[in-house]
Amino acid sequence: MKVCVVGSGGREHALAHVLSRDTEVIVSPGNPGIPNSTSDTPEEIDADLFVVGPEDPLVDGLADRLRKSGKKVFGPGSDGAHLEGSKAWMKQVLNEAGVATAHHGSFTDENQALKFLDTMGDLFVIKTDGLAAGKGVLVTENRAEATDAIKSYLAGDSFGDAGKTVIIEEGLTGPELSVLAICDGNQAFALSPAQDFKRIREGDTGLNTGGMGAYSPVPIATQQIVDSIMEEAVSPTLTALQKRNIDYRGVLYCGLMFTPDGVKVLEYNVRFGDPETQVVLPRLTSSLSDLLFSAASGRLINPPVFSSDAAVTVVCAAENYPLSPKKGDLIEGISEANAIDGVKIYCAGIDHTDKGFVTSGGRVLSVTGCGENLDTAKKRAYEGVRVIYWEGMQYRSDIAAHPTDEEKSS
Ligand code: AMP
Ligand code: GLY
Repeated sequence: MKVCVVGSGGREHALAHVLSRDTEVIVSPGNPGIPNSTSDTPEEIDADLFVVGPEDPLVDGLADRLRKSGKKVFGPGSDGAHLEGSKAWMKQVLNEAGVATAHHGSFTDENQALKFLDTMGDLFVIKTDGLAAGKGVLVTENRAEATDAIKSYLAGDSFGDAGKTVIIEEGLTGPELSVLAICDGNQAFALSPAQDFKRIREGDTGLNTGGMGAYSPVPIATQQIVDSIMEEAVSPTLTALQKRNIDYRGVLYCGLMFTPDGVKVLEYNVRFGDPETQVVLPRLTSSLSDLLFSAASGRLINPPVFSSDAAVTVVCAAENYPLSPKKGDLIEGISEANAIDGVKIYCAGIDHTDKGFVTSGGRVLSVTGCGENLDTAKKRAYEGVRVIYWEGMQYRSDIAAHPTDEEKSS
């Protein structure tokens, strides 16, 4: 079998790496750090299966176009991808399916939005309706900041058209969890859960990012909890989509929170998480190509099997990420880090010049460590991070620092 992975980040590197255990892989466009990257477009490539990584091409209908030309695709069409393309629509589907989620309202009118804000508690959550590269969510206790965000989102000043409808949500608290469900249109299998770290600084402070690290498995996410998420969130959502004639074949990424009132869905994404993929897939012991091919064919049969080993990934980001990441800094130590036992570097915002690898994006690479438990995996990941260097490199030193303490506090 030949698989084409579409995308160019650390998630796609991890997909390609794990798929290549038992199949030929090509990555379009990939990046200079991902083997078998090609400048050919997916439409120009002949492959038995296409796995689309990022949300933008899915929302734009790449999966529909490939399917129309007879290709087998793992990734929803633009109808299903609307779950991520419009948070207002996603909330409608969640409510219709009876899935527990934060109380919310969606608005295009400033006065109505501000009136609704008055009904919220002490923690304000303001989101863009449309895609904003993971940066369109503001969580704040400061009412003035929430008000300013609503005004500037609606005026199109912060996120263009994506913000012209805003979602205002009740602020929830508790540990977060990512459960990625592999869907074949009718049924779904959960992958082993992960937890990611969205803020740029230690202690979950500073700006929201695409994700600064992750670990898997997650001690608080027992099999019973995962089963209930599948029964109470994923299955009813697939049924609600089917009612709308949407044949959802791809990942349904559930962003969840363990609140004092139970587990609630914060968001759905229509793709693998980044950097969750870099810790979940290396732990898979069954065949990823079989799993994704059978989902794309509408016939999931064998559930995925995971090793009891743990994985931790630490994202190394460019100077000044997430505001305006600096490009062109020379990266040292990638092959030395890859040579450490149990360590694998997944490349993202990276370019190759005659001097060697240089930074070319916000999240430059993620360093995954694997081991028999979270402590060993974490130790290995940070051993890898310590041999990587460029001027201004940023990373969090507390990824997976206290996974079991969260268990106690929940
Ligand atoms: P989203 O893109 O909707 O997942 O939001 C990004 C991040 O914002 C989440 O991972 C949470 O950390 C935070 N967040 C989103 N919605 C809420 C909410 N209703 N209450 C508290 N935090 C939230
Ligand atoms: N790690 C969060 C995301 O992929 O959206």
